[in-house]
Amino acid sequence: MSWSKEHIDAVARLGADADYRAFERIGLDGMNAARVLDVGCFDGFNTVLKFAPYMGLSSIVGIDPFQDAIDDAKDATADTRFSWECTSLQDYVSDDSFDVVYFSHVLQHLDDKKAAIQKAYALLKPGGSIVIKTVDDSAKLSHPDDADVMRRLFRLYEAHVLPRVAHTAHTDRNFGAKCPALLRDAGFVHIALDIVHANTVGMSVDQRRGLFERMTYFRRAKPQGLEQDISQEMDELLVQWESMFEDEGYLFDTPTFVITARKPDGGHDDDVLKSEQAIGTLPIELGGGISAQPMHESHLGQVMAIETASFPDPWSPLAYVSELRYNHDARYEVIVDRAGAVLGYVGVWVRGDESYICQIAVAQAARRQGLGRLLVIRAAQMSRVRGAHVLRLTVRESNADAIAFYRALGFRSIGTLESYYANPLENGLEMAMEL
Ligand SMILES: C[S@@+](CC[C@H](N)C(=O)[O-])C[C@H]1O[C@@H](n2cnc3c(N)ncnc32)[C@H](O)[C@@H]1O
Repeated sequence: MSWSKEHIDAVARLGADADYRAFERIGLDGMNAARVLDVGCFDGFNTVLKFAPYMGLSSIVGIDPFQDAIDDAKDATADTRFSWECTSLQDYVSDDSFDVVYFSHVLQHLDDKKAAIQKAYALLKPGGSIVIKTVDDSAKLSHPDDADVMRRLFRLYEAHVLPRVAHTAHTDRNFGAKCPALLRDAGFVHIALDIVHANTVGMSVDQRRGLFERMTYFRRAKPQGLEQDISQEMDELLVQWESMFEDEGYLFDTPTFVITARKPDGGHDDDVLKSEQAIGTLPIELGGGISAQPMHESHLGQVMAIETASFPDPWSPLAYVSELRYNHDARYEVIVDRAGAVLGYVGVWVRGDESYICQIAVAQAARRQGLGRLLVIRAAQMSRVRGAHVLRLTVRESNADAIAFYRALGFRSIGTLESYYANPLENGLEMAMEL
């Protein structure tokens, strides 16, 4: 079994949008004379596809321990900003540090993932960013699948095939969910996760067959020494799974995890970073599994339940729908637990170098666990990456708890808005914080 060029290229093309979104988050197109390291660049196809459009990059270095792939990479482009080196990440040394270190479908295969993330941290300049694209099979959906065909196939593959193949011996097919905590432990901040889904809903039969092919091409090859009964069981499961894709009602969903994070630079956002470090243990305190993600219309049922329980003058569902669809200055995020339950949400309007927290709420049952702080920090992060230097908000003048909470996070009072709130009528206290 070897890396198949055809499939690696197809995956790179299909998933390109998710990379560009991650690059937007880290501000890649605003960078000047920046240096990028692509770890596990294979034959350079994905490296050129992803980075050639960014004219602010002065140097893109691709490394891979696979000599044949690096030989091909040398012919991948005439763009002199690209260079290629045959080496593993572990053995790689560089005189210069990087603005961005990028791993696309690589980290899950490495022997010591923690050491790899620490090495990336060491290779980055202060303030530099890491971008990781990876898998998590535990987050895949297969329905209806009463006989558990998909998971049985995955389990056999993980237990009997991956460990027998040299370059996949250390593969963790459920790495995605573990990655943010590893980044935090290594000292990264501003950790953000985007989960990008491909699924069979709305696909033609041919498209569904294509997705099945993509999911199984590497699961078809059998290594030497695989027991006959295991091999046969895998073949049978593959046939069963393939036939499920023929059924229009079958739902298969495969998520790709795209994670970005930043090495602290000790700069003027230290306060935000410190608060972020302070809440770094939050997932552990909550039993793990909470994550921040962009708000979608599918969240609105849960959001409205929190909204109406939190405010005497709640926004309507229509207000949220029009914000999500049409307000290009707005960004909304929800915090969800492992089961997808919304625990809280925050929205910001970013205009020029100012940003405004337009809505923020935490579910009654999830209060007093640090989520409010986490939401404000997410608001600060969303605002900063879009160029804001000041974060503002308005709070009811009588809400002493909220005012004290915002002051503790670094906000100060900047003015009063007469009769700003209705139901009951009340002044609004304006507060602001430098980002
Ligand atoms: C699935 S391919 C991904 C290729 C490319 N990044 C993409 O997304 O299309 C994984 C690549 O990681 C490389 N690789 C494996 N171990 C590595 C290591 N220790 N350091 C750097 N790259 C490694 C492999 O040789 C292979 O080219």
